[in-house]
Amino acid sequence: MAEKLLDQVNKRRTFAIISHPDAGKTTITEQMLLFGGVIRSAGTVKARKSGHFATSDWMEIEKKRGISVTSSVMQFEYEGKRINILDTPGHQDFSEDTYRTLMAVDAAVMVIDSAKGIEPQTKKLFKVVRKRGIPIFTFMNKLDRDGRDGLDLVAELEDILGIEGVAMNWPIGSGKSLKGLYDIQNNRVELYRKDGDDRFIDLDSDGKLPESEELSQDSLYLSALDEIELIKEAGNTFDEDKVLAGEQTPVFFGSALTNFGVETFLKSFVDLAPAPSSHKVNDDEELKPDDDEFSGFIFKIQANMNPNHRDRIAFVRIGSGEFEKGLDVTLARTGKAVRLNNATEFMSSERVQVSKAVAGDIVGLYDTGNFQIGDSIYAGKRKIVYEPLPEFTPELFMRVTAKNVMKQKSFHKGMNQLVQEGAVQLYRNFNTDEYILGAVGQLQFEVFKFRMQNEYNSEVEMTSLGKRVARWIDPEQLDPKMSSSRNLLVKDRYDKPLFLFENEFAMRWFHDKYPDVKLTEKL
Ligand code: G4P
Repeated sequence: MAEKLLDQVNKRRTFAIISHPDAGKTTITEQMLLFGGVIRSAGTVKARKSGHFATSDWMEIEKKRGISVTSSVMQFEYEGKRINILDTPGHQDFSEDTYRTLMAVDAAVMVIDSAKGIEPQTKKLFKVVRKRGIPIFTFMNKLDRDGRDGLDLVAELEDILGIEGVAMNWPIGSGKSLKGLYDIQNNRVELYRKDGDDRFIDLDSDGKLPESEELSQDSLYLSALDEIELIKEAGNTFDEDKVLAGEQTPVFFGSALTNFGVETFLKSFVDLAPAPSSHKVNDDEELKPDDDEFSGFIFKIQANMNPNHRDRIAFVRIGSGEFEKGLDVTLARTGKAVRLNNATEFMSSERVQVSKAVAGDIVGLYDTGNFQIGDSIYAGKRKIVYEPLPEFTPELFMRVTAKNVMKQKSFHKGMNQLVQEGAVQLYRNFNTDEYILGAVGQLQFEVFKFRMQNEYNSEVEMTSLGKRVARWIDPEQLDPKMSSSRNLLVKDRYDKPLFLFENEFAMRWFHDKYPDVKLTEKL
């Protein structure tokens, strides 16, 4: 039994794609789904891409649950492996959920626009992934357009992100003069704009094209050879251990839109990316994914916007064992027994009832309010508690009050529940106790407002405090006179004090004034 389960677990590849908006995440996801046979034509995923809708339309989109829920996790078979792609939305729907999703994957794919290099949102997401020490694979996209020099792009990985980049293939020309890819890993050249196996030409043992090939005399090919020589001598060499530890990122060039280099990338990725591994539980125990008992943790809760059904979907990452419909589990936080009857597994085009899933997979549980973000569930007698999910430093803040002062009770109830659920973070003014909400994305506030009204019948008034830099201070070092209009002093829900600085400049000014005061940031 255990061995069979291990075989199944070893087939899982669970990952997320991180990128800055417009780098090509949707396009490459779609190509992957095409390879996986989940969709038949391009444009299917794009049509639902939330980036094309205004924020206010989001609620409408949410009502069409079939679309938004299934797109949270995309699942397909490829090369004998079961692939789970977890969506990490960009644009307006960037939120703490986006970050938390990265806690549920075993690897990340970083898509970079080769004309733009590393952009701010990629940097933020990278930081979270890096902290987890999971492998990161880089796809330098839009090679069909004039982009930046390949050597520059690889150097930037180290200079800006602090991760070694190692080229797995190299562009021959770019933009209008794109000829192909020199595939270092597979010792072949992949020609641009050719279909089928005709697009590959094997290299000789010296890594050269046969002279009979026209391209072998091409100046772009020759300069690609020079560059490859350069990176072989001066660059990093591929080191699987470093890749698995997240210290080195394999770099693949390509063009998602013209489906060039995507298959080569996907094949290598599936090969190199790790299967689900052990999780740390109960403080210091290692829980193997093929442990006989089922267990998992909830990393995301999506509320149903249909006011007639107050149910929600809790997304569980299975950490060990096997899930079967009707499984009896215990919710670690409360000790309560729950029967998992209503679970969904995700396909790109439809929601289907899950019958069986194993460690590495994601299942969606219908929830009537039992679960919270970060909750552990387990079957069997042995209690299993996963490490708490990290809290992320919010960047946007809002003062919030109940519109109707007579309705304080529902206001407090709703706010407490939504904060517990992880929809937003709650702070209070250190001196006046007024409520302040924090979020990493604007949409979190919109959702908060909508849900307060619809689920708790509480209309809220919100005033923006804008973008702020939040830093915690040791209570021992705190002196109330340090606070000013430029660094609002608040406390978090554990009563820990922090400053909300107007900007980086205000923070530096504070630091110069109080050089001995230590300020800390969360993830
Ligand atoms: P995102 O999910 O990361 O936000 O990016 P998305 O895939 O939507 O791509 C953003 C834009 O970049 C799209 O164009 C898309 O067609 C284009 N794109 C993606 N990959 C490539 C590529 O390899 N080469 C080129 N030249 N373009 C690429 P758009 O005009 O903004 O959108 P649409 O009108 O095509 O939907």
